[in-house]
Amino acid sequence: MSAQDKDAPELFTRYGERSPFAEAYRGLRISLFHGNGGSLRSLGITGAGPRHGSSTTAANLALIMGETGKRVILVDADLYKPSLHRFFGLPNAVGLSSVLGGQARLGDALQTVTPPASLRLLAAGPAVRNPAALLRPEAVEALLGSLQGETDLVIVDLPSVGAVAYTAQLGPILDGLLLVLRAGTSSPDVDRLVRRRLKGTNVVGLVLNRVPLHGSDASSYRYYAELK
Ligand SMILES: Nc1ncnc2c1ncn2[C@@H]1O[C@H](COP(=O)(O)OP(=O)(O)O)[C@@H](O)[C@H]1O
Ligand SMILES: [Mg+2]
Repeated sequence: MSAQDKDAPELFTRYGERSPFAEAYRGLRISLFHGNGGSLRSLGITGAGPRHGSSTTAANLALIMGETGKRVILVDADLYKPSLHRFFGLPNAVGLSSVLGGQARLGDALQTVTPPASLRLLAAGPAVRNPAALLRPEAVEALLGSLQGETDLVIVDLPSVGAVAYTAQLGPILDGLLLVLRAGTSSPDVDRLVRRRLKGTNVVGLVLNRVPLHGSDASSYRYYAELK
């Protein structure tokens, strides 16, 4: 994380680290990829609402995936609020918007996140006036195909499905989608989202984020993942 970026979001996990946070993400990795999720090659991550923790989950899960030796490409597909580059202290000058807009080649837009070298980032790239027009499902599907040609897993961070329409449109082209919920989100709200907006999308798990721990340490959080 660059020293200059004081507002850089927090990465709770370090490669090989033993903190409870890193362990929580390892648990999530196991729920997702051992068992029937073993065949997932593209995973979308979205939040039920803005700031529920989609980007935090995407960045930390991608790092923890690297421990298994899997090659991972993390894609920031939130063109409204790009943030993944900031987790790793990387620039956002070239990225998804540049590749889809024809201003850059994919190979030139991918950035290596170290360590581990097996994790690469396709940042969101420069802001565009109409993200939904750029992120047409056919265009994104073609790009996903190219990305999958050179990695084991593509993790795509999407804007909140409750706030941005294109997330629901991209859901069905991904092998699976993880829905991040801020603790306190009501089950009827989740139900409505999944039924109305995520029809045709393979929702492979829910992550309950920002759960206050019991006792005196109520400002800490833990993660919980559950497969359907
Ligand atoms: N479990 C957590 N504990 C503490 N802060 C968190 C947690 N998850 C997310 N945050 C913070 O909440 C804010 C929003 O998280 P972010 O991942 O950017 O949400 P989203 O991508 O869904 O908008 C960030 O400042 C992030 O650091
Ligand atoms: Mg985000």
